Amino acid sequence: MASKYFSRALIDKYNISGPRYTSYPTAVEFHGNFQAADFSNGIRQSDATKPVSLYIHVPFCDTLCYYCACNKVITRDYTKSVQFIDKLKKEMALIAPLIKDRQVLQMHWGGGTPTFLTDEQIQDIIQFLHDNFTMLNNDEGEYGIEIDPRAVTPERIRNLREMGFNRLSLGVQDVNPEVQKAVHRIQPNEITEGVLNTAREVGFVSTNLDLIYGLPFQNETSFDQTLDQVLQWRPDRLSVFNYAHLPHLFKPQKRILAEDLPSADEKLNILDNAISKLSDNGYDFIGMDHFALPDDELSLAQKDGSLHRNFQGYTTHGECDLIGFGPSAISQVGQVYSQNLKTLDEYYDSLDKNNLPVWRGKILDEDDLIRRAVIVQLICQFQLEFDDINQQFAIDFQSYFADELSDYKAMQKDNLLTVDEKGIKIHAPGRLLIRNICMIFDKYLQRMQRQISFSKTI
Ligand SMILES: C[S@@+](CC[C@H](N)C(=O)[O-])C[C@H]1O[C@@H](n2cnc3c(N)ncnc32)[C@H](O)[C@@H]1O
Ligand code: SF4
Repeated sequence: MASKYFSRALIDKYNISGPRYTSYPTAVEFHGNFQAADFSNGIRQSDATKPVSLYIHVPFCDTLCYYCACNKVITRDYTKSVQFIDKLKKEMALIAPLIKDRQVLQMHWGGGTPTFLTDEQIQDIIQFLHDNFTMLNNDEGEYGIEIDPRAVTPERIRNLREMGFNRLSLGVQDVNPEVQKAVHRIQPNEITEGVLNTAREVGFVSTNLDLIYGLPFQNETSFDQTLDQVLQWRPDRLSVFNYAHLPHLFKPQKRILAEDLPSADEKLNILDNAISKLSDNGYDFIGMDHFALPDDELSLAQKDGSLHRNFQGYTTHGECDLIGFGPSAISQVGQVYSQNLKTLDEYYDSLDKNNLPVWRGKILDEDDLIRRAVIVQLICQFQLEFDDINQQFAIDFQSYFADELSDYKAMQKDNLLTVDEKGIKIHAPGRLLIRNICMIFDKYLQRMQRQISFSKTI
């Protein structure tokens, strides 16, 4: 049976491609006139009493998954990590004086595959962080790492825990052998299960598992079986990403044949079934691609209004400024966004000259800040009280956003949301269409683009 979140008719009507709002303005608005000095000034002008969240991008993988859209370098030359760590520390040393007294409440290592590095190398970076930043001990910080289960032993999981990591995220995508073969990612269930069991044994507080729907040879029945297996493992959080086949943008995807992909209709069936099944089995649908058990901090943050959204997707601790290290990493500090150079060569060159490796970014004006607050509130809490925004920014929401509220009339008619004199409430069928709902507040999208006559993308 379809879940309360899923209405085929509304998806058909509204389903257009749109930003995922891991930032507002979105990364396409970042520009090259933004320079290293703009970034460091942005940090200096930010609220120094706020804690920070660090993101560390390790760009290496030793094997290629054909679907992958992440910024990574595929290599089996493990010595490459030596130069990388040297430059990473240089970057950290340039930033450290600007934030060294601010508590590192959150840290996340992503990639690529952070466990491409040896335990000794990871420990070395952690030690460097402790020496140069205000790191927290005894699990007072939320410190997470993405691992490729194929590349770790129980011993490594134990070591990561001892180094202070307490959140673990595992790539899985699908447990079906035919799908795994087609995407060049063979990962027997015993491996995933072993990692999850060890993670629990050694006291990881939260485990996340990544799945993708829309991969070759998937259909509703096969993905249902994958979900059966995943439900037995019962990770605290689940990401169920939508695979977009864009081989002109991501070359490795050329190895995936378009004719092996599920049809748009089948993909919708898979998504519908996944939402129903996970909801029926005790997971909260947080929004977009994320699910969490009710006692996981992501669910708790949504319930108490502190859920946030940034480049890592949904997160707790919205009060943190985010600083990203490594190639392509994005920072969000006070009124600026800054993104690092993407290729290793450019990133290394910049650091060799003792410059912050800034590629592009954006300084937000007051209107950007107001719209960002509105979008974050809608995408995280699915409701908004005008007064909250009025008090925060000294505006009158209903007149400031008169056009946007008027644009909501059609969506209100379709029961995606309600607007009354107090605020906006998004209804269950609006959750899946939250991007469309937020796009109304995105001043950078052409008004024309906001209309609902686009082709479907799911
Ligand atoms: C950096 S990887 C996770 C860690 C590790 N490299 C691994 O694969 O196990 C991040 C996640 O992005 C997701 N991902 C990558 N490419 C994707 C794509 N084209 N469409 C949807 N999700 C994708 C996958 O679910 C993947 O697990
Ligand atoms: S999915 Fe993970 S392991 Fe596979 S290529 Fe992408 S980053 Fe590397």
